[in-house]
Amino acid sequence: MAQSDFRLREDIKMAEEQNRPAGPDLAAGVAASDFKDDFLLGHVGDQDVLLVRSGSGIFAIDAHCSHYHGPLADGLVVGETVRCPWHHACFDLRTGEAVRAPALSPLSVWRVEQKDGRIFVRDKIEQQKPSRKAPANAPNRIVIVGGGAAGFAAAEMLRRDQFGGELTMLSNDAAPPVDRPNLSKDYLAGSAPEDWLPLRPDNFYADAGIDLRLAANVVSIDAKARQVAVSDGKTLPYDRLLLATGAEPVRLPIPGADQPHVRVLRSLADSRAIIEAAKKAKRAVVIGASFIGLEAAASLRARDIEVHVVAPELRPMERILGPDMGDFVRHLHEEHGVIFHLGDTVTAIDGKRATLKSGGALEADVVVVGVGVRPRLTLAEQAGLATDRGVTVNAYLETSGPGIFAAGDIARWPDPHSGENIRVEHWVVAERQGQTAARNMLGQREAFDAVPFFWSQHYDVPINYVGHAETWDEIAIDGDIAGRDCMLRYKKKGRVLAVASIYRDVASLQAEVAMERNAAV
Ligand SMILES: Cc1cc2nc3c(=O)[nH]c(=O)nc-3n(C[C@H](O)[C@H](O)[C@H](O)COP(=O)(O)OP(=O)(O)OC[C@H]3O[C@@H](n4cnc5c(N)ncnc54)[C@H](O)[C@@H]3O)c2cc1C
Ligand code: FES
Repeated sequence: MAQSDFRLREDIKMAEEQNRPAGPDLAAGVAASDFKDDFLLGHVGDQDVLLVRSGSGIFAIDAHCSHYHGPLADGLVVGETVRCPWHHACFDLRTGEAVRAPALSPLSVWRVEQKDGRIFVRDKIEQQKPSRKAPANAPNRIVIVGGGAAGFAAAEMLRRDQFGGELTMLSNDAAPPVDRPNLSKDYLAGSAPEDWLPLRPDNFYADAGIDLRLAANVVSIDAKARQVAVSDGKTLPYDRLLLATGAEPVRLPIPGADQPHVRVLRSLADSRAIIEAAKKAKRAVVIGASFIGLEAAASLRARDIEVHVVAPELRPMERILGPDMGDFVRHLHEEHGVIFHLGDTVTAIDGKRATLKSGGALEADVVVVGVGVRPRLTLAEQAGLATDRGVTVNAYLETSGPGIFAAGDIARWPDPHSGENIRVEHWVVAERQGQTAARNMLGQREAFDAVPFFWSQHYDVPINYVGHAETWDEIAIDGDIAGRDCMLRYKKKGRVLAVASIYRDVASLQAEVAMERNAAV
């Protein structure tokens, strides 16, 4: 399993603890009346298998998502697909293919037989390659700049769609693509080992014919000559280029911010450095009370370190989640011992002493700076691509440069749901854009129209967010935020732009589907 399983359904969890599969033996047959809504959870041999009803069809598929093991029985059936309740991955019920990130690996599927009113799960169906094929006029050479969410998802999708040409991925990181969201969560907290982090094992790249070059810093793009220059002096020609350079943490322009115990958090190396410092630390100061800062605070608390969070805003995350959710997040962290210094900033760090604007000072063995990120636009700007607080792309994720696409944290795209050109910093959006860009680099014309989604985890509380609302005139709260069972609807002129939820997974998925269909949420 590739992550913490604290959100496993109790029945699966109990079965796993007792080392036995959940539910009835599906090979021995079950009755249609055994279904609960669209699902019936059981097992075949020692494997958990989920029967899923879609229209008149019944399908058998792995019970757990290939991303973080989410329980698909708590998900949503949409046509002949099932969506995962945790981070909204989507699987084809016939083939098991992960058709939408964040899951990338397929699930097993089994043959189902109906006989005398009973349903039997038979043999496992051999995994089929997706039937999509790269067109005959596909480009010969594709270069991807960036080994993060968008870059990796694009490379993986190009090979999945049987692109047979040269594929090079250049990353200025020394580590192969990793599960970046985990760097501030379980890995930082010490509850996930490092071997859970790589998105794929090292041999994947050679096996898939992906020329992954690490520590390869791209210094310029010659859009006319269609080639990129790498810092080692080499140049690489391309027919199609994907720019997926992500974002970099904002550094604080204060005295002492360059000391070794003052860290930002973006890469595996950053997370490792914080863990190293945390091993000897008794007190930490986290500067910034948004997602990265607070997730880091939670993880440091899990290591039993005293944590102070300093931030200029009066409520954490208010700008994104509103005042009520902001208060809840603050209380949640306080319950776990975090000490907030809100409406304040750190003006200097002298050794272990972090001076506050309000006059006091805090002792810190380690300081984590999480004050936001900036999209890495230098390459795009130098290449003369159109930019507007991000790289400007059209619905097909094409930039203004011929054959050059952009995806992920750097891309500002026309979002059909909000009607605005938006840029977000979400893992799932970056991956889905990488996948769409891959198909479009192969000559398809697939508009990127996914509804933005992100999640954030604080202790045992996951917050899921669907849509995009930079401003709103009303937040309608359904349920009980403190009771950790709620859905908040962010509305403008009566229209729901986004929803945030805690433990309302199906409602969150339903909201996503409604937004996709332009229906009322
Ligand atoms: C600690 C942490 C936790 C997060 N948690 C969540 C979460 O829970 N949920 C969520 O939705 N989002 C989360 N995010 C945000 C999410 O990780 C990003 O939105 C996502 O990684 C963006 O993908 P990307 O491909 O655009 O950029 P990145 O993943 O940052 O990848 C950019 C890549 O480009 C490379 N690169 C940059 N410049 C060059 C160059 N000149 N030459 C060569 N290579 C270059 C970098 O080395 C890197 O490999 C988190 C981010 C961090 C840092
Ligand atoms: S566990 Fe299924 S999408 Fe993450």
